[in-house]
Amino acid sequence: MRLKALLFAACLSPAVAIYSDEVNHVDFHHALLGTPSPDSTFFLKPSTASNASLLYTLSDKLLVGAVNPRDGALVWRQNLSRSADSPTRGAGLLRGLDGNDALVGAAGNYISSWSAQDGKLGWEKRLTEGVVADIELLELEDATATSGIRDAIAVVGSDGVGIVRRLDGATGKTIWEHKDTSGDVPFQVSSSSTEVFYISLQSAMLKGYKIKVTALDPVTGQQTRQQVLNSDTDVTTPESVLYVGANSASPLIAWTDKSQKVLKINVIGTKEITSIAIDNTSGSDIRQITVHAPNKLNSLPHFLVHFVTETGSWAEVYHVDLRSSKVTNAYRLPYLQGQSVVATSVIGANVYFTRITEAEAIVVSSASHGVLARWDLQTPSSEVALHSVSEVVTKGKSLAVRSALFREHGDWQLVRNGQVEWTRYEGLVDAVAATWAETDIQEDLVHELEVEGHETLYGAYLHRVKRHVRDLQHLPDWLKDLPTRILSSALTDEVSNLDSFGVAKPVVIATKNGRVHALDTGKHGAVSWSVQVAETTQWDVKAILSSPGAVTIYPSDGSSVTLDILTGEIVLRTEPSDTPLHTIAVLSTQDSTSLVTAGVGADGAPVTALTKEDGILVTTSADGRVRGWIAEDSKSPVWEFVPPSGQKVVKATARPAHDPVASIGKVLGNRSVLYKYLNSNLALITAVDAKAKTASFYLLDGVSGMVLHATTQTGVDSTQPIASVVSENWLAYSFWGDVTADESSAKGYQLVVSELYESPLPNDRGALDSASNYSSIESLPLPHVISQAFMIPEPISHMAVTQTRQGITTRQLLCTLPSSNSIVGIPRPVLDPRRPVDRDPTAAEVEEGLFRYAPFLEFDGKWYLSHARDVAGIREVLSSPTLLESTSLVLAYGSDIYGTRATPSQAFDVLGKSFSKLQLVLTVVALGAGVTVLAPMTRRKQVNALWKA
Ligand SMILES: *[C@@H]1O[C@H](CO)[C@@H](O)[C@H](O)[C@H]1NC(C)=O
Ligand SMILES: *[C@@H]1O[C@H](CO)[C@@H](O)[C@H](O)[C@H]1NC(C)=O
Ligand SMILES: *[C@@H]1O[C@H](CO)[C@@H](O)[C@H](O)[C@H]1NC(C)=O
Ligand SMILES: *[C@@H]1O[C@H](CO)[C@@H](O)[C@H](O)[C@H]1NC(C)=O
Ligand SMILES: *[C@@H]1O[C@H](CO)[C@@H](O)[C@H](O)[C@H]1NC(C)=O
Repeated sequence: MRLKALLFAACLSPAVAIYSDEVNHVDFHHALLGTPSPDSTFFLKPSTASNASLLYTLSDKLLVGAVNPRDGALVWRQNLSRSADSPTRGAGLLRGLDGNDALVGAAGNYISSWSAQDGKLGWEKRLTEGVVADIELLELEDATATSGIRDAIAVVGSDGVGIVRRLDGATGKTIWEHKDTSGDVPFQVSSSSTEVFYISLQSAMLKGYKIKVTALDPVTGQQTRQQVLNSDTDVTTPESVLYVGANSASPLIAWTDKSQKVLKINVIGTKEITSIAIDNTSGSDIRQITVHAPNKLNSLPHFLVHFVTETGSWAEVYHVDLRSSKVTNAYRLPYLQGQSVVATSVIGANVYFTRITEAEAIVVSSASHGVLARWDLQTPSSEVALHSVSEVVTKGKSLAVRSALFREHGDWQLVRNGQVEWTRYEGLVDAVAATWAETDIQEDLVHELEVEGHETLYGAYLHRVKRHVRDLQHLPDWLKDLPTRILSSALTDEVSNLDSFGVAKPVVIATKNGRVHALDTGKHGAVSWSVQVAETTQWDVKAILSSPGAVTIYPSDGSSVTLDILTGEIVLRTEPSDTPLHTIAVLSTQDSTSLVTAGVGADGAPVTALTKEDGILVTTSADGRVRGWIAEDSKSPVWEFVPPSGQKVVKATARPAHDPVASIGKVLGNRSVLYKYLNSNLALITAVDAKAKTASFYLLDGVSGMVLHATTQTGVDSTQPIASVVSENWLAYSFWGDVTADESSAKGYQLVVSELYESPLPNDRGALDSASNYSSIESLPLPHVISQAFMIPEPISHMAVTQTRQGITTRQLLCTLPSSNSIVGIPRPVLDPRRPVDRDPTAAEVEEGLFRYAPFLEFDGKWYLSHARDVAGIREVLSSPTLLESTSLVLAYGSDIYGTRATPSQAFDVLGKSFSKLQLVLTVVALGAGVTVLAPMTRRKQVNALWKA
């Protein structure tokens, strides 16, 4: 049976693309952004023609994204850190204006403008003078405006010099420039309907800063006046300034005194500073003060100050008198226990404030304290909301509001009238480890079957009968479901629902911020639960193991956490060990029924003694030694491999834990067999020498430490990604290096594939032929290695191999391509090192599936598992077998999360979507009817014929 399936699998064409109707059906993609920054996140209507708005953000990862507020899907995304020279994280800026189809973003010395609707680049600029300190879009339109796109004002700062520049909205060209060489700290830019203000911080005689406001003519950039505010006793660092407004009839600067007892407000451009005593009624320390003001020229000059203490929060609303620039308190939003967030929205001239607490959402107008609308939160979250942006819409008298709340630990939620519409799990952007989980049900059966396998014949029979009797209790339910199941399977394309074949496995992902998420691959990767496991921002997870119904996570501190796979409940926690661990190795026990872990210290020695069952442990230490350890002696290694001096071990890989071999030989076209060199203890070590520009690859036998095969590549740039993988009897690696052996200047990305055979001759088992058993220690024969190298168009940052249940299906080499943000699955037959070079294949070779070698390997469009998707920042690709031999699950994680199914030899054990059960049933019925009608007729005819004869 197995041989038949093998032949069948081999007959099918090796490369199969994903069909367009399978997109979104078999795969899912979490295109993530990271933590949205509070002052660069907003709702915006990209065009004046429609009222539809998008949610824009700039994240701490310097990714600019537009999110559809309806479903949370990413509309477009741009990567600022890719373009900026040396950006500082979290120091980006993003600005937009309603009805203006251009968004301007900046990070470091880089400024660019994109179309707000589709994210197409308008213009970009790299500054030579310094870094961008602030940027604003000018809402006022004046004679100099040449297109409908609003101009931007940027402040560029370098040591002691501040430059204010007006940039043309359509081209990014400088319209005018104002240079400030007074030595002040360039701080911010602001604008009112008539003026542009450059705000800088002037060092005072003693400590502190005076705030200097320079008013500029928006058309010419000429300085019109200057004001210095006496803030030096309060403002000690630029961070002490709470708020600088822009695009307002009365832009504000707000700060407090050092003890946070008095709030000071200045309407930019005037001399007055209004001091307002902070009413500290809550009686506890104020932790945070934020100012929320509208940023539209025609809106009312009202603003809100939000005070947060350890246990609660309140807010005060103030009005500014435009003529006298006096600030008066209008009303207060009462102190409430628990945390709340406030956001501003503007409709016409009216200003609305939305306050969302742990239990409810309310909307008030800035003009009076009456609550305009109130909703209870339908699904209160235990996570604290950190900031939010809101959009209020009015329809006649009724009012609706949607708010995008960012919660602690990374959930970004859209709450519409108290209802959670969607959640984006932005914490997943820092995924550090992932695994597939095993649910109980299947595993139970596997376990039962294993028991039966080990019993005596009679015992196994009894066990099976008992199991079936127990199963009978499900019979009534099964019978009840039967009619609906038959009906639905006949009418719908139930055929394509393969969830019961292990295709819908949960995935557990641990992230850097101490959170664990479970994704359901059967439901497009929807998050089924997420649990905060550790309070940290640098969770260093070394291993994650799944056992039936549970997953266990091993961070580097030596502790462990076990979670229930269905609920996410923490079932067991162990204490950290004394010594931090360098790595944690995952070993499978000798009968390979379960996995165990072994901690390894920084010196590469196991921290705890190995047991006999663990077998051999191969470790690499920080100083580049590769060593093998066994149970008898965990103080000193059994072998040690040190690369030649100058070389540094950068990577070690082994065969995957699940790597079944369907056939021990390769059948050639003339029916002779090349025997594969199969060794379950292979380890591939990559060592680079940066000075000599070489990369060496050593294939070791893990038991003896013997070098089975070694190659060295020259002209290698070790700063470029070097990826490697071992599976079955072959290995592959890629690097950037010399194309030819001689020292020519031709270099490129290369992919090398090597296959290991027992002997160069077919039908020959080499030295192993006569030995019925052999020991690694005594005399290990060396493999016969055949290799072929290919030029590839782009670098590969990570390699993996598809895994299927029995290894009958051809494998694919899964490669992560960081420069095009995609994942390709290269079919193994393409990478066959026996492909004939410089000649066409002979008839026997054609029969074997070999075709002529071409040095350049172009990635075929059909190989792209990620098809058109932009799967960015992938650290690792995992593959897992399913109950279907044809299908392998693939999960890529890192920055984005991407999951799909790979069928390298086509889905030969699955009925296609076009297969109609109904048609089959109808055909059988029709045939049956035909037979019943025709059978008596034929019989009569035969009888008549006999009589006549
Ligand atoms: C946008 O909304 C405003 C008020 O809510 C309405 O008057 C206007 O007609 C809307 N425009 C479009 C294009 O829907
Ligand atoms: C508020 O009052 C509490 C208790 O009276 C005091 O400890 C705290 O320092 C005050 N905070 C401010 C900002 O005034
Ligand atoms: C079969 O072909 C291989 C090369 O493809 C050759 O080395 C071998 O000698 C052939 N065997 C026989 C029995 O012809
Ligand atoms: C393996 O081979 C050795 C020597 O060749 C022999 O002594 C031993 O009995 C063999 N073991 C088995 C299980 O055949
Ligand atoms: C953005 O660019 C940086 C630097 O090139 C890269 O490390 C990161 O993975 C990119 N992220 C995305 C989502 O494209």
